[in-house]
Amino acid sequence: MRIAHLLLVPTLAVAAGMTIPAYAAEKLTYYCSAQEDWCQLMADGFEEATGIDVRMTRKSSGETLAQLKAEASNPKGDIWWGGTGDPHLQAAEEGLGEAYESPMRGEQNDWAIRQAEAAGNQTIGIYSGALGYGYNEDVLKANNLPVPECWADLLKPEYKGHVQMANPNSSGTAYTTLATIVQLFGEDEGFEFMKGLHKNINQYTKSGSAPIKAAARGENTIGIVFLHDAVAQAASGFPIKSVAPCEGTGYEIGGMTIIKGGRNPESAQKFYDWALSAETQSRALEVNAFQVMSNKNAQSSPLAPDLESIKLIDYDFAKYGSADERKRLLKKWDDEVSVLPQ
Ligand code: G6P
Repeated sequence: MRIAHLLLVPTLAVAAGMTIPAYAAEKLTYYCSAQEDWCQLMADGFEEATGIDVRMTRKSSGETLAQLKAEASNPKGDIWWGGTGDPHLQAAEEGLGEAYESPMRGEQNDWAIRQAEAAGNQTIGIYSGALGYGYNEDVLKANNLPVPECWADLLKPEYKGHVQMANPNSSGTAYTTLATIVQLFGEDEGFEFMKGLHKNINQYTKSGSAPIKAAARGENTIGIVFLHDAVAQAASGFPIKSVAPCEGTGYEIGGMTIIKGGRNPESAQKFYDWALSAETQSRALEVNAFQVMSNKNAQSSPLAPDLESIKLIDYDFAKYGSADERKRLLKKWDDEVSVLPQ
């Protein structure tokens, strides 16, 4: 359809003796920080629904924020969809987002709207999910390891080389982990925890869900991830079990931001409204994305982690999503944790 359209417009215009501008098909440059297959489903779904030509890049939350900052004087992206809310809030504080109030707001859960209100409507919540970890049952048994149940268990020497998490600079999942540990145990004890954990870490990955994908392949034992990412691997048939740590845990509110100064603001608003609809959000289940969706009418799966039954901390999004605090914690982690020998 679109190819025919492309050819037809210039031909008719030339025949009518008109000078025509370069063909201006509607476009959208879309930065995505959720899981790759969901990113792709959204790109394809939006193209099908609107005919708008989508160019997608998938990068982790912290990496996308860095890209937005680097491109601030000449923005190349139009919309940033998915990824943890903290970097979206930081982007808002730094004026990188465009304020927008969608007609779809009335259908969203309160927690999604609160995120928007905290950011002058430069971002909005699109999904939510609790942090925890998952392990490969077979690998755990083969190594005669006990089943871990708490955060504190992950510091035990027998798990040395068996735990993987992402780097909190690139990954929103890992930043949520750092901020959760600090909120659960206090800053001093929390950093002692991160130092102890460091001894058991076999690799810091770039992307947040990579550690549980490695566990699913049998290349790692325990991955610190969002619980829905662990459940997704189990739903795909891998021997992955998920653990909501006994001390309690943090959670994310995934975000969406229209990029200020983007070249296709109308396409960005269309995507924004479309992404907040129940119909679009229900499609997440096609790719085993088991987050709780922001739209109250979106379908959920019985496999999705039940947030009501998990001991959640009162995660302070305003504080841990603020530019100063996020930068400070990441620098401290770089200076005091990542450099330690293992
Ligand atoms: C996965 C999760 C999302 C989360 C995202 C963050 O895709 O399913 O809920 O928002 O990771 O990615 P990152 O690579 O920044 O940790």
